[in-house]
Amino acid sequence: MYKIKNHPVDPDYAKDANITEQQYQAWYKESLEQPDQFWAARAKQFLDWSKPWSSVNEYNFAKGETTWFKDGKLNACYNCIDRHLEKRGNQVAIIWEGDDPSEDLSITYRQLYEQVGRLSNALLAQGVKKGDRVCLYMPMIPEAAYAMLACARIGAVHSVVFGGFSPESLKDRILDSDCQVLITADEGLRGGRSIALKENADKALAHCPDVRCCLVVKRTGAEIGWNNSRDVWYHDAVADMSPDCPAQEMDSEDPMFILYTSGSTGKPKGVMHTTAGYMLGSAMTHRYILDYREGDIFWCTADVGWITGHSYIVYGPLANGATTLMFEGVPTYPDASRCWQVVDKHKVNTFYTAPTAIRALMSQGNEPVKKFSRASLRLLGTVGEPINPEAWEWYYNVVGETRCPVVDTWWQTETGSIMIAPMPGAHTLKPGSATVPFFGIEPALVDNDGNELQGACEGNLVIKRSWPSQIRSVYGDHQRMIDTYFSTYPDTYFTGDGARRDEDGYYWITGRVDDVLNVSGHRMGTAEIESALVLHDAVAEAAVVGYPHDIKGQGVYAYVTLMAGIQPSEALRKELLDAVSKEIGAIAKPDLIQWAPGLPKTRSGKIMRRILRKIAANELDTLGDTSTLADPAVVNELIDNRANR
Ligand code: WT7
Repeated sequence: MYKIKNHPVDPDYAKDANITEQQYQAWYKESLEQPDQFWAARAKQFLDWSKPWSSVNEYNFAKGETTWFKDGKLNACYNCIDRHLEKRGNQVAIIWEGDDPSEDLSITYRQLYEQVGRLSNALLAQGVKKGDRVCLYMPMIPEAAYAMLACARIGAVHSVVFGGFSPESLKDRILDSDCQVLITADEGLRGGRSIALKENADKALAHCPDVRCCLVVKRTGAEIGWNNSRDVWYHDAVADMSPDCPAQEMDSEDPMFILYTSGSTGKPKGVMHTTAGYMLGSAMTHRYILDYREGDIFWCTADVGWITGHSYIVYGPLANGATTLMFEGVPTYPDASRCWQVVDKHKVNTFYTAPTAIRALMSQGNEPVKKFSRASLRLLGTVGEPINPEAWEWYYNVVGETRCPVVDTWWQTETGSIMIAPMPGAHTLKPGSATVPFFGIEPALVDNDGNELQGACEGNLVIKRSWPSQIRSVYGDHQRMIDTYFSTYPDTYFTGDGARRDEDGYYWITGRVDDVLNVSGHRMGTAEIESALVLHDAVAEAAVVGYPHDIKGQGVYAYVTLMAGIQPSEALRKELLDAVSKEIGAIAKPDLIQWAPGLPKTRSGKIMRRILRKIAANELDTLGDTSTLADPAVVNELIDNRANR
């Protein structure tokens, strides 16, 4: 076992931190005991309102209802841009760093205002109205942020679809939320390779007759298909538009965006977030957990296609008037020192990334890190999956040279902002632990029957009360939200994660307890991958599980039963990988496929995934009871023929 060493608060760091331990304790107590008082004060401090609220919070988990700052009026884009103009119009809002190290841009708050205003007017000219859904399928270029903010400005609801998703996935998401406008680019650029976004969009839109307008940013200038009645160049659309566009007054609970995420069953769900609570959650956690201080240069390496990009590239940092860095490329291009080169180039103070990136960089050794000074770094953060203590220590010792605390932040698409994480000036850090709850967050651990566990224990992680940036609905299927999150354990929000709590009350997330995989920080449902596999004519049945992977955290392990008479082959393996890429996207491709003449099933025909997970993980001595299987012999067959790795 790796020996875990605690890291007490560094007094040098704590001197200038936003929150001390004492303050955390006092505020946390107030946030639970007098929540209305606590949150009202924060809502006034962090956001500008055009009309005050009538009640701070009302909620009923059983009905899946919650309101925060009811009847209050505000605009998210105004809060991210307009209100900063007087004081920081000439301050850089967005530093854009291109895939190619020779390309970058600095966009001031004034310029951001103008860009967003022009695009807002262009969207209005296209007939986009408050409440309409607009789909974004974008590379990591400033226009992605402009588009999100322009939607927020006019009250349209954006649905960002990660550029790595397939045409099929894009189509499903456009149709599910009835988007009638799509914003994309000719191509994306990542790690020196181009991504055919417009070509993918064309394939998707062939099945989306209601999309009347496709705005296309010219990023690479590649040859692309064009539909004159539907496609409009972004630069043409904004060219004659005024930079001034009034911000639509929005209700606190008006929908702000939809973001699709995978669950254990069915198609991805459109997680819906509303305006005030989301903005408050992202701004406050950026200030207190990512410990933002005036003048800091903040870099979150996520893609805007994920919630991390929404909350910590765009909305949280801009609400706080920060300078946020947006990176088009990948950490290993042109080489493994890219992140540190960018840190030095732009004097980045806070660096927030995923464990998978840390492990990938760690595997390249210390030299690429040492080539750059990293002198500006003050704080390091991680998000997306459990971080193994070895990777944590490498991040802390090599990247941060023991000078920068590491905040391990646990949260989800559904939670909108960080839920469990240390405050770097307040908490002893324990590598591998997401530590303690944020203000107002009341976590609990329950056993499988829903009984709350006390003290040091391990169980299913639930949240006992509403918080401002909580999911409000699953778009188009409110009942599905109730069923998924609020029915497993009554009167609580069920996270889908397991966790351990130690004697100091620290939380250690152990990973998903449902059929959701987390591969390189990307979330996917085993059911989605299985559906993609069984679409192939040769496949009779498929079962997908996760298995421990050194870099990705989890890898995708697929057990595939072929139709009678079909022989496995390398060619077929490749066809199946392509099928998953085509159906979902390359990120979901199985790392390993095992040909399985039979799958372990109960007598009622249910696949026993527990056993498949154990076989995939090579944990053969803890297989558990296999006597209830319809045909126990299949287990030995699978063990003897495990996939090569
Ligand atoms: C799932 C949510 C919200 C950020 C990006 C992922 C896992 C997230 C941590 C962490 C251990 C983590 C959980 C969670 N997860 N952060 N710090 N430690 N696990 O968002 O795609 O909605 O996935 O990611 O399993 O349920 P997401």
